[in-house]
Amino acid sequence: MPQHKISPDSPIGIFDSGIGGLTVVKAVQAGLPSERIIYFGDTARVPYGPKSQVTIRKYAREDTEILLKHQPKLIIVACNTVSALALDVVEQCAGDIPVIGVLKAGAVLAAEKTRTGRIGVIGTQATIGSNAYTCAILKENESLEVIPKACPLFVPLAEEGFIDHPATLLVAQEYLSAFTGKEIDTLVLGCTHYPILRRMIEKITGPDITIIDSAEAVASMAGDLLSARNLRNPGKETAIPHLMVSDLPQKFRELYRLFMGSDLPDVELVEV
Ligand code: DGL
Repeated sequence: MPQHKISPDSPIGIFDSGIGGLTVVKAVQAGLPSERIIYFGDTARVPYGPKSQVTIRKYAREDTEILLKHQPKLIIVACNTVSALALDVVEQCAGDIPVIGVLKAGAVLAAEKTRTGRIGVIGTQATIGSNAYTCAILKENESLEVIPKACPLFVPLAEEGFIDHPATLLVAQEYLSAFTGKEIDTLVLGCTHYPILRRMIEKITGPDITIIDSAEAVASMAGDLLSARNLRNPGKETAIPHLMVSDLPQKFRELYRLFMGSDLPDVELVEV
């Protein structure tokens, strides 16, 4: 159990299996610019989605321990796969430190936004197989209908930076055809890598389907939680995130610039 003392100046710890969680970092930075962010991307072991529950839970524990060394005041699990299968592991490891998972934020937002009550959810194999999204959405409103679809190739395509690539279009058309005739009006991007491919996904779903990206909802939940505990950083300057990865693939620098709109700051390599 962590015994460290937390204060408004303590950082917010955020982790994901790879680059996907940067979509959450970006939203937290935009919503809470003076907060210090410590981000860990487990780039050596990505993807988590096709792995077993036992392995995902082991990784979740190790990722949390890496963040705890930096004495965070809050941990954000920017990975739907971990949120679906191992949120309890993170909470147990974190002790008194609050934990927010992206999955619940996405489910709440989708239940709020749907008008017809028919919601599509896309995610990794592990997330969809766990049924966690369906349960979380039905918990909000049991009259809603959820149509899930695993899209395992989206994570490697995003990590590869294949954002406007014809291969991504073909794969997306194949996966999203699962919703043809299902009359969904809302589609949850149930994996934090998927916002990277959002333009391509929207090209196929068209303007009538509301896309749910839980990143902004998570940022606002984080702000509320910190305010309620008097833990908001009163500083006025925008803090540069401290990035840690377990491997530094060549594409990382390029992808970081593309999504964050700034050059990659110093990156710390950590061993897993
Ligand atoms: N970005 C993560 C998620 O939200 C994990 C994807 C993966 O590693 O397979 O599910």
